[in-house]
Amino acid sequence: MTKIREAWGSRFGFILAAAGSAVGLGNIWKFPYIAGENGGAAFIFIYLVCIAIIGFPVLIAEVLIGRTTQRNPVGAFSALAKSKLWVSVGFLGVIAGFMILSFYSVIGGWTLGYVVETLKGSLSNFQSPDEAGTLFGSLVGNVSWGLGFHTLFFAMVMGIVIRGVQGGIERSSKIMMPILVSILVILIIRGVTLDGASEGLAFLWVPDWSKINGQAILIALGHAFFTLSLGMGAMLTYGSYMSKKDSVISSSAQIVFLDTLIAIMAGVAIFTAVFASGLDPAAGPGLIFQTLPAVFSTMPGGTYFSFLFFLLLAIAALTSAISLLEVVVAYFVDEKGWNRKGAVLIFGGSIFLLGVPSALSFNLLADAKIFDKTFFDVVDFLASNVLLPFGGLMIAVFVGWIWSTTAVLEAVKEGAEELFESYPWFEGIWMLFLKFVAPILITLVLLNSLGIV
Ligand code: TRP
Repeated sequence: MTKIREAWGSRFGFILAAAGSAVGLGNIWKFPYIAGENGGAAFIFIYLVCIAIIGFPVLIAEVLIGRTTQRNPVGAFSALAKSKLWVSVGFLGVIAGFMILSFYSVIGGWTLGYVVETLKGSLSNFQSPDEAGTLFGSLVGNVSWGLGFHTLFFAMVMGIVIRGVQGGIERSSKIMMPILVSILVILIIRGVTLDGASEGLAFLWVPDWSKINGQAILIALGHAFFTLSLGMGAMLTYGSYMSKKDSVISSSAQIVFLDTLIAIMAGVAIFTAVFASGLDPAAGPGLIFQTLPAVFSTMPGGTYFSFLFFLLLAIAALTSAISLLEVVVAYFVDEKGWNRKGAVLIFGGSIFLLGVPSALSFNLLADAKIFDKTFFDVVDFLASNVLLPFGGLMIAVFVGWIWSTTAVLEAVKEGAEELFESYPWFEGIWMLFLKFVAPILITLVLLNSLGIV
């Protein structure tokens, strides 16, 4: 008996779920602070170029592998390639999913914690970011606060994924993504109507090229990759539930568009408010949990905006986290014959446990250093800076060089016949980027992460 594999209910459902995976802490927490640290507009310009020349072509490749094989990363590579080497690339993706979700859930927990703290009123009346920073330190330094919200966040992730592709992931994305966009619109209106907002807008639109150096370009490249959830098979797995009637190209374009739009919108909402309060836009990772609470304290109605902001962050984190768990679950369901419920409980449970030392890295285990890094930092570094670029490199090389070009072009044209008729140059450019531009640039990012360049 062959089981019928799950699939998306509609193309729109797939786009929202995939955009949900892409839009995460990367867009709302990381993008604004790296843009802030690297000079604003000029950095954003470079980032957009990276999205176009690396992100978009690799996203198409990843979704295509999934849609063609209708399998998880391991099954997909074994269906397309004879060599074990490629199967292990799929396997590394599953491992990366395990690792990323374990620490992503810790930060996801903080966002839920901040929603609760706002409701309790503990995030008002800060006189300065330092005061907000002190509270942040005492919250994440508290074992039961950190572990408790990690547990709550993880329970929500498992609760969604256990309900399946259509009934869980697609349905929750259709509810959460519109809420996310609505909240952003409200925050932008609040931001741009504050006195002094124009300086924040100028920071985002007027480029200061003096801040751009090799390092800034590598950060933009790495982030283009991370923000689209590339390199570990999340987009591959989501693509595997996609119908062959739908175009991989236009779906990928819409995912890229939504991800980029939401990152820029988050930048506008945050920097108008930060500049209006006269605070430092280059505050680094603390921008969200330290600078912003101070900004909200000074704002009329700040508590409401603070609540909305952290809810936005929690939703963004949740829709990304479910795609991470789905990669692991799809592997055990497709390859090992597990049922979804068992796979979610057993492997979700194990990922949750792996997250515990990450949650404790901010309190009990803060001094337990491995190569000068906490457990959290080690897992984050290995997954985000090593496994993801490596996986992305392999995906570009695989579709560019290993999989036969005739088969690739045939597969990518399925459901996109008109597009290729209207724009016959598209396939040449896409292949050029996949074969040469992406592998070279991603290799540089990887070598940079490893401290070699
Ligand atoms: N794209 C997510 C973000 O912007 C982070 C991320 C990276 C991710 N790789 C992933 C999410 C893989 C899900 C799956 O925050």
